[in-house]
Amino acid sequence: MAQKTERLLPILTGQPVIPVLKIDRLDDVEPLARALVAGGLPAIEITLRTPVALEAIRLASRVEGAIVGAGTILNAADFGAAQAAGAAFIVSPGATGAVFDAADASDIPLLPGAITPSELMSALARGYSVLKFFPAEQAGGVAYLKSLASPFAAVRFCPTGGIGAANAPDYLKLPNVICVGGSWIAPDAAIMAGDWAEITRLSREAAAIARH
Ligand code: 3PG
Repeated sequence: MAQKTERLLPILTGQPVIPVLKIDRLDDVEPLARALVAGGLPAIEITLRTPVALEAIRLASRVEGAIVGAGTILNAADFGAAQAAGAAFIVSPGATGAVFDAADASDIPLLPGAITPSELMSALARGYSVLKFFPAEQAGGVAYLKSLASPFAAVRFCPTGGIGAANAPDYLKLPNVICVGGSWIAPDAAIMAGDWAEITRLSREAAAIARH
């Protein structure tokens, strides 16, 4: 089955950086999503790493302009729960047959993770050519992605993991990178302090990073 790239690509090409969020308090969700939208990053990924994550997806989806995806999807049950919560897109750090099967049975686009050549080949065989690359810095970063470009000319990546304002421009210069993801736009300290202006400032800075 194919990836539903006609729905995924506009989300990933619409902004150079996808904020990756870990929500601890539901009261933070709406002001945080508004701050990111105001800063030019309407597509956001809320990770299923906290007990309130699914409710956070529901709340964030109500914020005008926000395009809310679910991240850290590890299995078919997570996929189903994220879909029921209204996620507009699904992100998984890796890929399994069960997650691909869940995506095949759904209208929601999936961004699956892959790092090794064999993982890339498995994803391609399932009809997926737009892939998350996680954990980007730890797995080999820009140099590794450059070396995948020739054998995997059809693949485009969204690297995440260890990316921040300082190294995001280097990733975004690569022709096989369509966007990057990261948590640096919404630091825990700023969320805890309710410093939404700071998050809008970081979003504006990230939204302005040039792509190749
Ligand atoms: C992810 O799931 O994409 C990563 O946890 C984001 O990594 P970062 O916190 O290093 O940006």
